[in-house]
Order: sequence, then C-alpha cells, then structure tokens
Amino acid sequence: MSRARAKILWLALLGVALLTTLWAGAQLVIDEAGDDGGAAAFAALGAELLTSQGFTERVEMRAKALASGVHSTQLKASIARGRALFYQVRTVEQGLGPGYNGVSCAECHARPNPPGRGPAGRFARVFSAGPRQTYSPSPTAEARVAQSRWLAGHASRLPPAPFREIGRRRPPDLRGLGWIEVVPVEQIQRQTKCDSPKAPPGQVCGWAPPKERGAGSLRFGAKMVTATLEEFITGALYFEHGQTTRAPMMNRDDDDVADPEVSEQDVIDLANYVAFSPPPGGDVFEGKGLKLFRQVGCADCHWGDFEIDGTEVPQFWSDLLVHNLGEHHAELDYEERTPGTHWRTLPLWGLRDHQGPYLTNGSAKTLADAVMRHGGEALQSRKRYQELDEGEQNELVTFLKTL
Ligand code: HEC
Ligand code: HEC
Repeated sequence: MSRARAKILWLALLGVALLTTLWAGAQLVIDEAGDDGGAAAFAALGAELLTSQGFTERVEMRAKALASGVHSTQLKASIARGRALFYQVRTVEQGLGPGYNGVSCAECHARPNPPGRGPAGRFARVFSAGPRQTYSPSPTAEARVAQSRWLAGHASRLPPAPFREIGRRRPPDLRGLGWIEVVPVEQIQRQTKCDSPKAPPGQVCGWAPPKERGAGSLRFGAKMVTATLEEFITGALYFEHGQTTRAPMMNRDDDDVADPEVSEQDVIDLANYVAFSPPPGGDVFEGKGLKLFRQVGCADCHWGDFEIDGTEVPQFWSDLLVHNLGEHHAELDYEERTPGTHWRTLPLWGLRDHQGPYLTNGSAKTLADAVMRHGGEALQSRKRYQELDEGEQNELVTFLKTL
C-alpha cells in the first residue's frame, strides 16, 4: 500500500472511531435522560437538526425575507401559526410536564408585548454538572433549567447531583431576533480580537465560542448556546413546558402523552413568529448621548456592523461576542467554553420599553447600576463613565432609555 493510501485509511479509521465515541456519548446522555427526566444538550441537538432537516436553508430563507421585506404566503401562514403557538396555554393532553415552569411562551416573554421580555422576578434557575466531568459529549450538555412546577402525581425535584445551581437568568426580549439569527458567521468572527476567552487584563477582547458540530455559529442565550432560534426553542419547549420534540435528548419524558409531543413544523412556526416579530427600538438621535456612548467605549462591545446582501441589519447594539465582565458579575462556572464570568453582549435595543432589574441575573436596579456592574474587559469603559460629570452621566443614561 502506498504511503498516501495508508494515510487515508488511517484517517478514515480515526473518523469512525471518533464518530463511535460521540455516538456512545450521546447514547449515555439519553440513558441518563431516562433517569432524571432528560438532560440538556443544545449543541448536540443543533448538530442533528442542522444536518438532517434543511435547517441552514431555513435560516437563509429568513435572511432573504428579512432583507427584502417580502413574505411568501407560506411564510405568512407559518408566522400566524407560530403566533398562536406562542400564546397557546399548554394542557396536560398536549404534553405539558411532568415538570415545567410556565404554560405559555407569552407568560415569560410579553413586555411590552409578545414576544418581549419577561416580568421582573421571573427567573430561570440554571443547574450544571460542571465542566466536562460527566457523561456528555458536549460541554453545553451539562447546563439545564430546573422546573418549579410539577403535575399532580409527580413529586417536585431538582436536577440530581452532580448538578448544582449556578445562577438565575431573566427572560430576555425576543422581538426582532430573526435579525440576530441571520448575521453571517464571518461578520461576527471579523470582530473577535481573541481566539480564547482569556483577555489580557483591562483590554476589550471579545470571543466567539466555537460550535463543536454542525454549521452556523453560536448567538442565542446569555451564554451563547445555540446558533439558531429553532434550537433554542426546542430547549424552551422541553425545559419551560416539559414538551418533547424529535431532537435527541429532548425526545422523551415520563408523562402519559406519546413522544414527540410537539411536531417539527410547530418548532419552525414558533421560530418564524419570533424571527419576524417587529424589532424593538427605532430612530436613534445622533446627539450628545450617542457621542458619550462611543467616547467612553460602550460601543466597543455594544455595537454591530452587520449586513445581509447589502441590506443593513438594524442596530441592536451588540457585537454578538462573549466578554469577561469580571468576578463580581459571574455565575458559577459550568462549562469550559463560556466561563462563569463571561456573557454575550446584551443587545440594548428595546431598553426604552423596559424597567429594571437589568443584566441577565437581574442584579442591577437601574441602568446606572447596570453600567457600574461592568468589570473585567469593560473596566476601562466603566471607569471612563465614572469620570464623566454628573450631567454627562445623565445624558448617557437618558440616551440608553431611548434605544
Ligand atoms: C418560565 C419562563 C419562560 C418560558 C415559559 C419561556 N421562556 Fe424563553 N427564555 C426564558 C429565559 C429565562 C431565557 C434566558 C435564558 C438564557 O439566556 O440562558 C429565555 C430565552 C429565550 C430565547 C433566547 C433569546 C436570546 O436572545 O438569546 C428564545 C428564542 C426563547 N426564550 C423562546 C421561547 C419560546 C418560543 C417559548 C415558548 C415555547 C419560551 N421561550 C418560553 C424564560 C422562558
Ligand atoms: C467589554 C464589553 C462591554 C463594554 C465595554 C460595555 N458593555 Fe454593557 N454589557 C456587556 C455584556 C457582556 C453585557 C451582558 C451582561 C449580562 O448578560 O448580564 C452587558 C450589559 C449591559 C446592560 C444591561 C442591558 C439589559 O437589558 O439588562 C447595559 C444597560 C449596558 N451593558 C450598558 C453599557 C454601557 C452604557 C456601557 C459603556 C459605559 C457598556 N455597557 C460597556 C458588555 C460590555
């Protein structure tokens, strides 16, 4: 056998071994799922949907429809069905439970109108089994949302050890998220200044966590766990409502309704409804507030220069990257990919419609508090904000309230 041939054979064998390992890992998770009602696996799930179901094509379709403003009759019908599903009050017969947090999407995403933000105090409790130490093939598989409500006949339970609570997150505004879904991968990567989450002290770095399998790049969730709305929504159905889909690791639970409880078309319809909901914000006044925002370096992170096929993406005030905000604004570590101190830059569009608390964990009562809680990579920017006189600080905060 020639050397080149031997090399190809060797590589092929290695590939098979790798796939078998991944597959065995996934099986193990499914077995675990049987024990505790299901383990989360956003990353693995994404890979499956992406490769098997025309997932990329749908994102491309959304990109075209958003850029052109033209919606086909088929798309319009899907959005209308998605809207009804978003408001739908789920019943036990539809697979609600056994554990769940809410009976409808709108319950947690309605301010000022669906699919907006959650009411204050409506936090998700996130649990983790720690970075890569257990059974999972993917680090994100180890974070999951706990359920606070249980159907009659099911004792309430928290994710079992080694899972422990690592933090609480509030439901974000979902309006206009299609624009975030369709930003081309290369345009996000162009802005990164780091190839690992570690930034030199005091410097703005910005990092795009890698997607381990499947196409696309991560952009949804405070910790950047999925590339697309369909993936995130599959998780929302499973964790928030106890509804199963065809997706691996979210495809069974221990209630009496046959799995999968939600069809793929329903997931697509929900994604289309969220994607095409009118974005928040609008006209931005190019005055002193914006000037100060740039001057103190807020725009180093809260700025996106994105376009699809020559159409400008509305400014959502985020670079779609993950940044270290410092130890005092951290969850317990749960995955090596996005450390506890690191967060996706929260888009600031829609702030005009919201009241505090701010930040993902709701730790800031006011917008000024939110700025003051920025440390880590944002430390210099926060210091420059503190050096402004009171009038200028007010000007900047008032500007935020117009976004
Ligand atoms: C009990 C409250 C609750 C319910 C019910 C709920 N969500 Fe959420 N949702 C959240 C929280 C909390 C987050 C933030 C999670 C995070 O960042 O890790 C979130 C995040 C999201 C995101 C990601 C947004 C982003 O900017 O990255 C999407 C999309 C989403 N939810 C869609 C839905 C849909 C669709 C439904 C109904 C099928 C739903 N949610 C039901 C609480 C809820
Ligand atoms: C190094 C990057 C970085 C810089 C610089 C930065 N931010 Fe942020 N900002 C973030 C990240 C990341 C979050 C999300 C934190 C979270 O999810 O809890 C955030 C969150 C926020 C929020 C909370 C929004 C909400 O909906 O709760 C506000 C307000 C905000 N930033 C304003 C500012 C202002 C004003 C400045 C400039 C003084 C600034 N930021 C500078 C990265 C940055």
